[in-house]
Amino acid sequence: MTGRETGPRPLLNRRLAGFGTTIFAEMSALAARTGAINLGQGFPDTDGPEEVREAAVRALRDGRGNQYPPGPGVPELRTAIAGHQLRHYGLDVDPDTEVLVTAGATEAIAAAMLALLEPGDEVIAFEPYYDSYAACISLAGAQRVPVTLRAPDFRPDLDALRDAVTPRTRLILLNSPHNPTGTVLTREELTAIAELAVERDLLVVTDEVYEHLVFDGEHIPLISLPGMRDRTVSISSAGKTYSFTGWKVGWVTAAPALVAAVRTAKQYLTFVSAGPFQYAIAEALRLPDAYVTGVREELRAGRDLLADGLAEAGFGVYRPQGTYFVTADIAPLGEKDGTAFCLSLPERCGVVAVPNAVFYDDPEAGRTLVRFAFCKRRPVLQEAVDRLRGLRA
Ligand SMILES: Cc1ncc(COP(=O)(O)O)c(C=O)c1O
Repeated sequence: MTGRETGPRPLLNRRLAGFGTTIFAEMSALAARTGAINLGQGFPDTDGPEEVREAAVRALRDGRGNQYPPGPGVPELRTAIAGHQLRHYGLDVDPDTEVLVTAGATEAIAAAMLALLEPGDEVIAFEPYYDSYAACISLAGAQRVPVTLRAPDFRPDLDALRDAVTPRTRLILLNSPHNPTGTVLTREELTAIAELAVERDLLVVTDEVYEHLVFDGEHIPLISLPGMRDRTVSISSAGKTYSFTGWKVGWVTAAPALVAAVRTAKQYLTFVSAGPFQYAIAEALRLPDAYVTGVREELRAGRDLLADGLAEAGFGVYRPQGTYFVTADIAPLGEKDGTAFCLSLPERCGVVAVPNAVFYDDPEAGRTLVRFAFCKRRPVLQEAVDRLRGLRA
């Protein structure tokens, strides 16, 4: 008999064993405790547009969305999401049958995994990956199969992807623009992934929350490629584009059968959420393109400030093509372990970052990599860079 069999049964079930507090909560708490500049968690330090906030206030006052909104989302928002897909990508989406509003992209990912996977199915994802992927795949009883994106380019190894497919593979979970590396998949890479999905009859769930935060290259929704319309679940969210991460308004666009499947899981997770905010995000999605362009250019300047500053401070820097994160290597600073480095950073120089190792199944692959967020005001980034320069002193 082992001690485990005689000891008390763990409270946390097997599927969630090993998933402690997310690193973002841990690092944000460290920032709050030490008063350090928080470049760990990816939330902007400036709220989104005034008129969108006013739209939320109006909805609250006018009693729109204060009671349970419709399960798939309010029609105004579903129509605005369909309009967004058409305007930006030429995609024709039926707002009634092909759109589902969710509590952020996070719920959409969870609902997709719970709806589409059977226990024992395999899910391929490029690592490093966003931390909810592993937990959601595990909650669904499925197995994750990582394919590693490696420095210095963090491009997908398409042969390794092909080799990772087995008869048990059910879906590929794809994130582009990619957190934390900033990789934006090219049309050629997406085409190869689409061809593989068609050939092996796989579903693909695409996390596109950074779709508008692309500085080099362009965002191409996989669902727009040949053969993908009926096998792709496309996920996005208003949090990143419109700087309202706390509102948790996300969405799924997919063929009716896929939306129906995801909706079945979603209705038992939250049923509905964010009533008045849904009306406000409908207005956000209709803002002129100049809004999105402005956000992108502001972030591009933030990226360059931070990337240049990190390089000057002695880090190895991987300048991202998209997202609002930059991955940096601490090895040139003589450091060996990103987790120890990030835990000591607030005290050493008053800045918080996140160790990339937490995004890998194989932590060795990201041992000396750390991630900084640049969705912060220019003076805050400048101050962080000045502080980080002190590391070499
Ligand atoms: C890749 C990725 N997917 C999903 C999310 C979560 O999106 P939401 O806040 O809309 O749930 C994040 C947030 O950091 C992310 O980086």
